[in-house]
Amino acid sequence: MITHIVGNRPQFIKLAPLYHELEKEGCEQNIIHSGQHYDENMSAVFFDELGIPAPNVNLSAGGGSHGQMTARIMVSLEEELTACRPDLVILYGDTNTTLAGAITAAKLCIPIAHVEAGPRVHNKENPEECNRIVTDHLSDILFCPDAISLHNLEQEGLGQAAYMTGDIMYDTYLSIADRVQLSDRQEEVIVMTWHRQENTCSRERMESILNLVERLDGKVICPLHPRTRKCLVEYGLLERAEKLPGFEMTEPVGYTEMVKLMNRARLILTDSGGLSKESSFAGAKCLFMLDVDMWEDLVKDKWLYKFDPENEENVEEALRFAGQAKRVDAADRPRHYGDGHAAAKMVQKLKERGMI
Ligand code: UD1
Ligand code: UDP
Repeated sequence: MITHIVGNRPQFIKLAPLYHELEKEGCEQNIIHSGQHYDENMSAVFFDELGIPAPNVNLSAGGGSHGQMTARIMVSLEEELTACRPDLVILYGDTNTTLAGAITAAKLCIPIAHVEAGPRVHNKENPEECNRIVTDHLSDILFCPDAISLHNLEQEGLGQAAYMTGDIMYDTYLSIADRVQLSDRQEEVIVMTWHRQENTCSRERMESILNLVERLDGKVICPLHPRTRKCLVEYGLLERAEKLPGFEMTEPVGYTEMVKLMNRARLILTDSGGLSKESSFAGAKCLFMLDVDMWEDLVKDKWLYKFDPENEENVEEALRFAGQAKRVDAADRPRHYGDGHAAAKMVQKLKERGMI
């Protein structure tokens, strides 16, 4: 039995191709959902549209501080894993759900595979960095989205267990992009997402982001993460955001809708690790509003410009970058994240190592 442990929006997107690939191999699988993300449009929508069966168990352990959430997930997970005793646990990305899964499975001596292993931002103030480091070091097999991630793991002495498979989100992106037809008449837009702790933790920070949006040319569509909406309300900024000319905030969208948006974006403005990388699949350059270097190859290519919205010099540069950004043809997009067959490569490696 293989148990997938997921709980957050990007994890459902990463789970889909691997679940389907393991299904082709006839593997018995179950899904444990931590409940970290729980709104219909942050969770169920992805299971439906990506053809993943509903989770076997939902631990309903979302909300609260990092410690509270991680601990709640661990307590419930220990009971579930003890009951179903899987031969392998698969973890995705760098969230609290992943951290809880890694510690719990390791203490129960259940082998762990980590999908999206190896990115490092070399800054432990970034909460996800702590989750990535612990999870990688507790895992038995590590699947890297790019060459830099593999290099990072080699530097940390984990090279024996690590493979460059490419990014599994690219598998999902391609499976949807192939099906989605775009009407020629759809106008180009700037697509924005915004949710990281670092960008929602103070009124000043949120205001500086709204100030930047106000100075951008053209329509900005922003499917808003529930955390960000709650923080805008808390800081009394929602009305200002709603009145910004050309700024359209929507509810979070499903992945098909997201791919349609990305594919008509002339620029992506985000603090999302996933979307900043997807920008290179979709042909829209990325303004990244977080002080971490997660996808260094995209920075070197000048595809991704990282900036601090509270630093006026950075903001001026970001506005110049935005002013010049236009859609890039498929042939001219960066290609650092594999070939869209990451899931098949992962299954192959699991077989070679006798783990399935
Ligand atoms: C989490 C991950 C982050 C990832 C993101 C993906 C951690 C430390 N953070 O951040 O790495 O980039 O998921 O989206 O694991 N909320 C709702 N409804 C929901 C989900 C969240 O209202 O369905 C609200 C709640 O008020 C919650 C807050 O958003 O307290 C933050 O949610 P949480 O899961 O803690 O963090 P994310 O910002 O989603
Ligand atoms: N995404 C989505 N709907 C939205 C916003 C984002 O489907 O309304 C997708 C996005 O394209 C990417 C993933 O969700 O595939 C990224 O998730 P998120 O930004 O929540 O997390 P992160 O990547 O920062 O961990």
